[in-house]
Amino acid sequence: MLIEFTLNGKPVSIDAPADITLLALLRDHLALTGAKEGCAVGECGACSVIMDGRLINSCLVLAPQAGGSQIITIEGVHAPDGEPNDLQENFIEYGAVQCGICIPGMVMAGEALLMQNLNPTRSQIRTALAGNLCRCTGYQQIVDAIEATAQGRRGDL
Ligand code: FES
Ligand code: FES
Repeated sequence: MLIEFTLNGKPVSIDAPADITLLALLRDHLALTGAKEGCAVGECGACSVIMDGRLINSCLVLAPQAGGSQIITIEGVHAPDGEPNDLQENFIEYGAVQCGICIPGMVMAGEALLMQNLNPTRSQIRTALAGNLCRCTGYQQIVDAIEATAQGRRGDL
């Protein structure tokens, strides 16, 4: 079936099976492999993308449900010049990146939070990351990176 939506700010129109997930549509039909398949059952958050301003697990959304929506994937998160943005730079700066399987989803969770709240408490940051599992970093550095980004973006206002 034809599925039309906005992907990282650009219109997309793609013919794809109706019974695949949004994650499969992104990875297998649109060659956007930043979102990862970890568990495929909504437990790990590695497949996180932002759909109409909300963080979602793309492994739990059928591709046709994306029709008419605005989707942002990790490929759509960058500075205007295409380089890593402030959040991504802070992930590097604070040592929040290790194996990287979880990191695209973590960045998307951070961006989704910062879209809603530029002054989150550490507790709110942890809550925002509750659906994203990381077996490497211990989370502390990820929370630090998101907190520093919030501070920086507040300073830019
Ligand atoms: S792959 Fe979607 S939540 Fe784990
Ligand atoms: S950096 Fe390895 S799972 Fe998160």
